Amino acid sequence: TNNTYNYHMKPIIAASILSANFAHLAQDVHEVLMAGAEWIHIDVMDNHYVPNLSFGSLIPKSLRQANIQAFFDVHLMTRPVDNLIESFAKAGSNLISFHPEATHHIDRTLSLIKSYGCKAGLALNITSPLDVLDPVLDKLDLILVMSVNPGFGNQSFLPYAKQKLAACAKKIKDAKLPIRLEVDGGINTHTISAAYAAGADTFVVGSALFGSKDYRSSIDQLKKAWV
Ligand code: DX5
Ligand code: ZN
Repeated sequence: TNNTYNYHMKPIIAASILSANFAHLAQDVHEVLMAGAEWIHIDVMDNHYVPNLSFGSLIPKSLRQANIQAFFDVHLMTRPVDNLIESFAKAGSNLISFHPEATHHIDRTLSLIKSYGCKAGLALNITSPLDVLDPVLDKLDLILVMSVNPGFGNQSFLPYAKQKLAACAKKIKDAKLPIRLEVDGGINTHTISAAYAAGADTFVVGSALFGSKDYRSSIDQLKKAWV
């Protein structure tokens, strides 16, 4: 029997709306999807877990009302976490990730997310230990490795993220589980190849995409890292 297990995740772009034009957000999101982004990454900041304030569940809800059908990858940079899950799930989130340091009971929070039918992920900062993953690996649909300190777009890629990505990629491979490995922060045409080589398969891009003139050519350039 063929016992080689090869669960290869198709590399995808998750466009972070943090850098989008909020004066016509639905239009901007529609354009970035037409240009080839697969996921919409929704960066929720509460000015408590991170020193910045972005938006609440009204944003994904409004995008769904504007008939945006894409996969909503919600990144909660909030503390606490649990009391926000229901509203984001009902607003149309497909996946909710959170920072383990922002909840008292990581396993319970993961179960709460899944109880609403959403996929679940853990978001690790550059200094967060990886051992939090082991007891809950079978509950994870995504591991998000931050390659910047959370709270702001348009920051520079932290090189240590490559080591973290490689370590997470090994954990996923050894466990033979279908878990996406996402890298978030400072991803552009100069940093995406190293992140891909380190094992990432899901690439959050905010300012390098929404800050560009031509979304289609920006996405095509980014995807050159793996095509
Ligand atoms: C940081 C945010 C940003 C955002 C991507 O808390 O999570 O990393 O998604 O921002 P860019 O692509 O502009 O670095
Ligand atoms: Zn993010």
